[in-house]
Amino acid sequence: MSAAPFTVAIDGPAAAGKGTIARAIAAHFGYAHLDTGLLYRAVGARVLDGADPIDAARALDPTALEDSRLRTADVAQAASEVAVIPEVRAALLAFQRGFARRPGGAVLDGRDICTVIYPDAEAQLFVTASADVRAERRWAELRAKGDMRTLAEVLEDVEARDARDSARDAAPMKPAPGARVLDTSELSIDAAVAAAIAHVTACGGRAAP
Ligand code: DC
Repeated sequence: MSAAPFTVAIDGPAAAGKGTIARAIAAHFGYAHLDTGLLYRAVGARVLDGADPIDAARALDPTALEDSRLRTADVAQAASEVAVIPEVRAALLAFQRGFARRPGGAVLDGRDICTVIYPDAEAQLFVTASADVRAERRWAELRAKGDMRTLAEVLEDVEARDARDSARDAAPMKPAPGARVLDTSELSIDAAVAAAIAHVTACGGRAAP
C-alpha cells in the first residue's frame, strides 16, 4: 500500500448514514477513520458533568474517546450546543487536520470536514436523508438500546439538532461545492455504501492490496 495521504471527507446531518458509510470506506480502502462527532460529544459529556466547554475542549485527549455514554441522546444535544462555540471548534481543529493528512489515507465524518477542516480532500461526500427517515432510523437504534422515547420526540430532537448545526455562524453544516451529495432516504445500506465507494474510487482512492 502506498503511504501517501488520501483524504475522504464526509459531512451530513445526524442519522443520514455517514458513520456507516465512513466505516465501510475505511475498511474497503484500508484507511484510518475518525468520527469527529465523538470529539464534540466528549466535550458535551463533560459540560453535562459541570465543566466549562472551552476548558473541556482544550483539555480533551482526542485519542481516548471510547465511551458508550457518548452515544446517548442527551450527550448528542449537548454536543450540538457546544459545537456552536468558535473556541471549542478551534481547540479541536489541529487534531482533525493532522488526522486528515496521516500517511496511508484517512476518512473523517462530521459536519464541516469538506468546508473547513480539509477542503482539499481528494474525495468529498455530503450524505443526507429526509428528517422523517433519519428520525425513524435513530428511533429504532435507541429502542434497541432500551431507550423508549417516542418517534415524535426523536424527530423533534433530529430537527432541533439540524437547525442548530446548519444555522450556527461557526462552520455551519452545508454541502461543500466539491462534494457529491448522496441521499440515502431510499437506499439500502449496501447500495449507499456501493455508491460512496464508487465515488471515492472515481476520485482516485485505491484499495489496499
Ligand atoms: O455526528 P454526531 O451526531 O456524533 O455529532 C454530534 C454533534 O456534534 C452534532 O450535532 C454537531 C457537532 N459536530 C460538529 O459541529 N462538527 C463536526 N465535524 C461533527 C459534529
